[in-house]
Amino acid sequence: MRTRPLGSTSLVVTELGLGTWGLSGDAYGPVTETDRLRVLEQSLAVGIRLFETADCYGNGAMERLLGERVPAEGTVIITKIGTRLDAEPVRKDFSAAYLKEAFERSRERLKRETLDCVLLHNPSSVAVQRDEVAGVMNELRESGALRAWGASTGTPHAARAAISVGAQVLQIPYNLFHRKELEKLEPEVENRKIGLLARSVLAHGLLCGTWPATREFGVGDHRRERWTKDTLRRRLRQLVAMKPLVTEDVPSLRSVALRYVLANPLVSAAVLGPRTPFQLAQLVREAGKPPYLESDRVELLRQRLEEAGVET
Ligand SMILES: NC(=O)c1ccc[n+]([C@@H]2O[C@H](COP(=O)([O-])OP(=O)(O)OC[C@H]3O[C@@H](n4cnc5c(N)ncnc54)[C@H](OP(=O)(O)O)[C@@H]3O)[C@@H](O)[C@H]2O)c1
Repeated sequence: MRTRPLGSTSLVVTELGLGTWGLSGDAYGPVTETDRLRVLEQSLAVGIRLFETADCYGNGAMERLLGERVPAEGTVIITKIGTRLDAEPVRKDFSAAYLKEAFERSRERLKRETLDCVLLHNPSSVAVQRDEVAGVMNELRESGALRAWGASTGTPHAARAAISVGAQVLQIPYNLFHRKELEKLEPEVENRKIGLLARSVLAHGLLCGTWPATREFGVGDHRRERWTKDTLRRRLRQLVAMKPLVTEDVPSLRSVALRYVLANPLVSAAVLGPRTPFQLAQLVREAGKPPYLESDRVELLRQRLEEAGVET
């Protein structure tokens, strides 16, 4: 498994990381305990050394699992804090007091004296710019309890705000149907040497091109609310833009999607979301090796996506 530096932090991460939202059962519906463990064990077996989670995934269960099963030596665990599951309704809390409490709980569950990297979990640009936020995260670093911090954000606005207050790592959605956010952030990411984690590289599975136009999602699957029937049909039609990129060495749309992300030198790692050992094996195999997609193929892909009206 190849590695890349996580921006200007002292951490080095494998290019493929295992995200645990899907495995928690919170995102796409239930996952059996057997599959959860097998995906984790198989990730370690194929050389994945980057694991991504959040204190709220499975109400702490995913952190606990990683703490128990992932060896401390040679691995990087990224967790996220700032969501209060104890509030009704669930809400965000990035106050200094809550961040400190949540940090200690994550540290206990992950069984690490020093946490590798903690991200603020979907903060708004206003929340991230409050003085106490950077203050508390920098304090944790200076005390030796934390190696790096950053934010997982959903908008360029929030990402830029996080960079402006000193975030060293950003996690953003980045995939063939969602490229513009990173394009807007490129100068800051490059100049500040931000460690960049790309998530949702398959657009929640859509980019694999294996769904029928009539695909329906079960209760408890976040995709049920994400797309209307018409939007999903339109999105599936747009996949035609990727098809000419499938060749002998890039064997599927899934492979095109994954390699597009890995071909971007600004990306430190692609955080994957397999829910079964079979999916994990496919992803690892089809990620291939450098050059993931040559620049002329990347350019062709960009043109075809523009013509297909993706991101308009
Ligand atoms: N705000 C945040 O911080 C945030 C938000 C989102 C995600 N994340 C992190 O990023 C990770 C990945 O995000 P994501 O779930 O959006 O990722 P994704 O990789 O775009 O989508 C995951 C889904 O893709 C499908 N899939 C995976 N491997 C496949 C394969 N080999 N063939 C066909 N389909 C496959 C599965 O769908 P089916 O279930 O239909 O099989 C799976 O549930 C999450 O686990 C989480 O840790 C963080």
